Amino acid sequence: MPLLREPDRGTPARPDGAPVDVVVDGLSVTVPEGTSVLRAAAEAGVEVPKLCATESLEPFGSCRMCLVEIDGRRGTPASCTTPVTDGMVVHTQTPTVERLRQGVMELYLSDHPLDCLTCSDNGDCELQDVAGAVGVRDVRYGYAGENHTAEEKDTSNPYFDYDPSKCIVCSRCVRACEEVQGTFALTITGRGFGSRVAASGGESFMDSECVSCGACVQACPTATLQERTVVELGVPKRTVLTTCAYCGVGCSFKAELRGDQVVRMVPHRDGGANEGHSCVKGRFAWGYAIHPDRVLSPMVRDTTEDDWVETSWDEAIARVVDGFARLQAEHGPGAIGGITSSRCTNEEVYAVQKLVRLGFGNNNVDTCARVCHSPTGYGLKTTFGTSAGTQDFRSVAKADVILVIGANPTAAHPVFASRMKRRLREGAELVVIDPRRIDLVRSPHVEAAHHLQLQPGTNVAVVNALAHVVVTEGLVDQGFVAERCEGFAEWAAAIAAPENSPEATEAMTGVPAAEVRAAARLYAGAANAAIYYGLGVTEHSQGSTMVMGMANLAMATGNIGREGVGVNPLRGQNNVQGSCDMGSFPHELPGYRHVGDPANREAFEALWGRPIQAEPGLRIPNMFDAALDGTFRGLFIQGEDVAQSDPNIQHVHAALAAMDLVVVQDLFLNETAEFAHVFLPGTSFLEKDGTFTNAERRINRVRPVMPPRTGKHEWEVAGEIAAGLGHAFGYPDASAIMDEIAALTPTFAGVSFALLDRLGSVQWPCNDSAPEGTPIMHAAGFVRGLGRFVPTPFVATEERTTRAYPLLLTTGRILSQYNVGAQTRRTENVRWHPEDVLDIHRADAELRGIADGDWVHLASRVGQTAMRARLSDRVPPGVVYTTFHHPESGANVVTTEHSDWATNCPEYKVTAVQVTVAEHARPEGVERSPSPPAVPV
Ligand code: SF4
Ligand code: SF4
Ligand code: SF4
Ligand code: FES
Repeated sequence: MPLLREPDRGTPARPDGAPVDVVVDGLSVTVPEGTSVLRAAAEAGVEVPKLCATESLEPFGSCRMCLVEIDGRRGTPASCTTPVTDGMVVHTQTPTVERLRQGVMELYLSDHPLDCLTCSDNGDCELQDVAGAVGVRDVRYGYAGENHTAEEKDTSNPYFDYDPSKCIVCSRCVRACEEVQGTFALTITGRGFGSRVAASGGESFMDSECVSCGACVQACPTATLQERTVVELGVPKRTVLTTCAYCGVGCSFKAELRGDQVVRMVPHRDGGANEGHSCVKGRFAWGYAIHPDRVLSPMVRDTTEDDWVETSWDEAIARVVDGFARLQAEHGPGAIGGITSSRCTNEEVYAVQKLVRLGFGNNNVDTCARVCHSPTGYGLKTTFGTSAGTQDFRSVAKADVILVIGANPTAAHPVFASRMKRRLREGAELVVIDPRRIDLVRSPHVEAAHHLQLQPGTNVAVVNALAHVVVTEGLVDQGFVAERCEGFAEWAAAIAAPENSPEATEAMTGVPAAEVRAAARLYAGAANAAIYYGLGVTEHSQGSTMVMGMANLAMATGNIGREGVGVNPLRGQNNVQGSCDMGSFPHELPGYRHVGDPANREAFEALWGRPIQAEPGLRIPNMFDAALDGTFRGLFIQGEDVAQSDPNIQHVHAALAAMDLVVVQDLFLNETAEFAHVFLPGTSFLEKDGTFTNAERRINRVRPVMPPRTGKHEWEVAGEIAAGLGHAFGYPDASAIMDEIAALTPTFAGVSFALLDRLGSVQWPCNDSAPEGTPIMHAAGFVRGLGRFVPTPFVATEERTTRAYPLLLTTGRILSQYNVGAQTRRTENVRWHPEDVLDIHRADAELRGIADGDWVHLASRVGQTAMRARLSDRVPPGVVYTTFHHPESGANVVTTEHSDWATNCPEYKVTAVQVTVAEHARPEGVERSPSPPAVPV
């Protein structure tokens, strides 16, 4: 499509106001009360010049371009800050206001570089447009007076420049940083002529608190704040609407191109998940898609000792087909399997699980969600009846109390965090349950009412203590429980037992009982209370128990089934929800239907023409165990770096090395590819055609900005392997795959590419009963009928601190990097996080003679690695923390084989470790050692 410019009506909509009738320049219009005159004029089709106003920000009234005259009122009020009243008659083009506007514009232009024709923003500049609209052709004051045109640029940020010579001090950037992003990194310093935009205390953008979300750049009406790529490549000319491929927020973007070249990614205002906002990853870190490290041709080799040899698609696929067929002939149909990727589209994931079920004839398919949110699937399905979060993101705007448990939204789900922070600034109360003092505990204009800084591994004890207070202090919503739930009496009796009280659990959890009681009363007493959680809940040996514990708490207090409440997983990867929805688990067909039920298999068998095995297949850890036993010999791995991201890496490496045929499909030669015999190049999100499903069940379109650079879509590759095995798919395009998903999956029955093109996005369930999707689940009743209370006894993890390993390691992410870093490490984002470091409390560091920046050994009973230490009061004594974005540090070398009892989700968040000072940087033999180290006791 040509370049898409969303209309800018100048001020935000006020949808809740009563209708008000206004006349603008003789045109009648009805708008909600509270609407600005500027916006009412736009609704009537009258464009009033404006500079400091924009639809995404509250009106400010500083530029004086939008002056109007109103019958019965004196003067010329600014239309952006003047709300309409019933019967108001407005004139926007009188000689008086036109003269005033011209005068103001002349003042702006007299202090502006006169280089419009060579300016990088030429044709995309609001100042230029408004100067034309108000009819300024010359400046009476001349250009010789004092001005700012020689001011120096700030080019410190890798993605955008700040050129103060072009600034009109409209404050849109400052307000965007406050209102949209919630970082408060910018201010206007000085007065009058000396006014200028300053980052933090006058630092460069790079050194300031700026998190590079791009909101200020987007808000700037001139070329003052501008993407470097626009300066280098020119103003874009066309738009493709698509979806970010990083995190589970699923932001919609306008990919803006000039010719075939992507110039920039601009967040789409109509995007349901992000409503025009973005973070540094989606906005700027897309260059990996065209990085020279991309592998674009298939490659093969006989053994992993050999060098890779480029080959044709036909030869590579023939080798995969022959190899898998031989392994099945020699070792049985169950000797091979596949792993799907949460980075890929629903259509690509569906194709791979179909390759396994139809082409391989078994259920040996699993997904990387196994290692992150599988407990969410189990826990929410058991209690509520479906494996998904209950709300849409918008819902947080109606929450009065927000519980954030084991999640760090400002780093891992930044655009949702901005929504949440806005609600917190409006007055909602916050409870953070996390071993670390995450940013949300205290950040500009946000402060948690309670931070329950628990010991890693004690989540369930804390949620039980919260529930104990609710039950024993009479805070249960009896009406909700009686009408909508079952199993309450048994659960309540168990939870009321004295061993679950905050006082009884305090010594174990480390959380003062009074804090737990206060947090429980706050949550239970709110009109609307919502829970948001992340991998700090799921990646535990009791991950599924904890998910059910939170569901119990929400049901007991009636916080399910309307806006502002709910239990909401913040999903890590862009399509974790979708990969689970698409039947990637070995026991479930698409739509979470158990393979053991003949009724579930019937429709698939009828359409696919081959029986589906009734027995669940192997999970990822079982595949690896079976590989070491010699019974599992071949694996197709779609876009998942198991050799780096799975726990107990030594075990994973040994399992991969034991297989006869490992096929990896990915963008880059990742760590797993070291064990592969066939490498099939994958497509980046800029090439994909399909859909992603985000953490709020929202199905977003991913549209190709360019054809596959590899020559093939990933779903085509899976289809060709299946065809080689005698089971052709026959899809003409990706939309046909979605049509098949819809035909076979009741919750997707109404979904099609045509519907998504019409609505923009849709949240499943989407079918005859909800043709435009379901933003809030369980509204009239739970999906399973009655919500089920499940007792959640606390069983401590077997991972314990000892004299040899006295500290607990927990892991997480930071904003600028993403997972194992394969994408973000190939962008300028490395400037913010060039290496993983170990956060250690001052007291623990002192005890070990560790200074800030020292290299340290990090050792657990399964492995050891080395990294720099950072002294930090974000972790309490006894707890250390690191990220896992860089393969060199290999944090997963030390994580153990413990996993969730229900789903095998690894216990990444609790590892007993010892930390000792290292003499030299990354000492020889310490890095990623597979053998248990000798640890000084
Ligand atoms: S940098 Fe841009 S948005 Fe900010 S005050 Fe200057 S012109 Fe306005
Ligand atoms: S990029 Fe984002 S965080 Fe940085 S100054 Fe602009 S709005 Fe604020
Ligand atoms: S919040 Fe997530 S989906 Fe949105 S731009 Fe950032 S990484 Fe992409
Ligand atoms: S747009 Fe109204 S004062 Fe600037």
